[in-house]
Amino acid sequence: MRFADRIRPLQFNVFAEMDRAKAAAIAAGLEIIDLSLGSVDLPTPEPVLEAIAASLGDSSTHGYQLFRNTQAFRQAVAARYMATFGVPVDPETEVLALIGSQEGTAHLPLAILNPGDVALLQDPGYPSHYGGVYLAGGEPYPMALRAEKGFLPDFDEIPPEVAARSRLMVLNYPHNPTTATANVAFFERALAFCDRHDLVLVHDFAYDGMVFEGGEQPSIFQVDRDKRRSIEFFTLSKAFNMGGFRIGYAIGNRELIQVLRQIKAVVDFNQYAGVLRGAIAALTGPQDSRHERLAIFQERRDAFIQAMAAIGWAVPTPKATMFVWAKLPEPWTTRSVDFCTQLVAATGVAVAPGFGFGPSGEGYVRFALVQDPTGLQVAVDRIARFLQTSGRSQ
Ligand SMILES: Cc1ncc(COP(=O)(O)O)c(C=O)c1O
Repeated sequence: MRFADRIRPLQFNVFAEMDRAKAAAIAAGLEIIDLSLGSVDLPTPEPVLEAIAASLGDSSTHGYQLFRNTQAFRQAVAARYMATFGVPVDPETEVLALIGSQEGTAHLPLAILNPGDVALLQDPGYPSHYGGVYLAGGEPYPMALRAEKGFLPDFDEIPPEVAARSRLMVLNYPHNPTTATANVAFFERALAFCDRHDLVLVHDFAYDGMVFEGGEQPSIFQVDRDKRRSIEFFTLSKAFNMGGFRIGYAIGNRELIQVLRQIKAVVDFNQYAGVLRGAIAALTGPQDSRHERLAIFQERRDAFIQAMAAIGWAVPTPKATMFVWAKLPEPWTTRSVDFCTQLVAATGVAVAPGFGFGPSGEGYVRFALVQDPTGLQVAVDRIARFLQTSGRSQ
């Protein structure tokens, strides 16, 4: 059989290699501690589960969901956004329900890019941002993120001829995988660049609310207040532990919402009504579980950083997200994939290689803090033994 050319760039995926290494470790009888995936391990809040369970017996939820059936969800989104960020949002024209935010960010380039158009993406960045651009026949331009610049792109480094061919910029702060945060001044610079070059500005806000003390988490519409050229993507996967339920949403410029809606109309019929009702319960109900969850991730973060320091691997304390982004010690400083495949083969501890998020991620690994402090300590003990036997412990 012959397949479309657009499949080709999707085939290179170091995470598939990691999956193979993990499967081999399981087959060899190792007990796996999986810190490689950002899938929240905590339960979904009870009121959300109750709303979904109650919907199952209600046959009016069993059919296709057209746009108008998502109205109550869109209203809950607009109310929450206004309460959190103080910017009014029209639920009819400026909000769209998504089957997870990844679905939205991956579909949007189809509505923006013509074949050969450039999209400015973060490197390292979320792999699906690249995948969406490839599916649309676009050309990603990686904006390198470096530690010395706070993992923020330097817009002055973008060559004028690239900027001239660009149609889209995608940002994600708090950032996966580096855990970096951005402030309003940075978003102002990004918006000014997009204004200058007439680009659509996408902000993937997957870690909305996952910021610890001292961290910042502006929304793009605190800068682009009139929603001139921006669209922001949110998920309930992280904030409400609903990753498996597949529910997210976009808020944005009405034309952008309209074109994304047109693309989606070809592809899906929205999320199941029961999940939408669960999401409404999450957005409108008491927010205690969010605060509890943040405290849990902060405790894990502190325990992990301390355990790593104790074995001589110093890593900066993240201000946000559920990850730790760690610079690899010698002799692994340019071999993140080797480090991760050999670590899982030897110890059962799975972590994500920085290179999997783009060339500028090489030399780093990403730990997802999806175990309790005891599990994290066991993982760090195994890593210490691995570092000793595989060379030096830094
Ligand atoms: C930056 C970023 N965007 C999107 C997603 C996916 O979110 P969803 O479950 O809403 O598709 C993730 C998940 O890890 C993420 O890290």
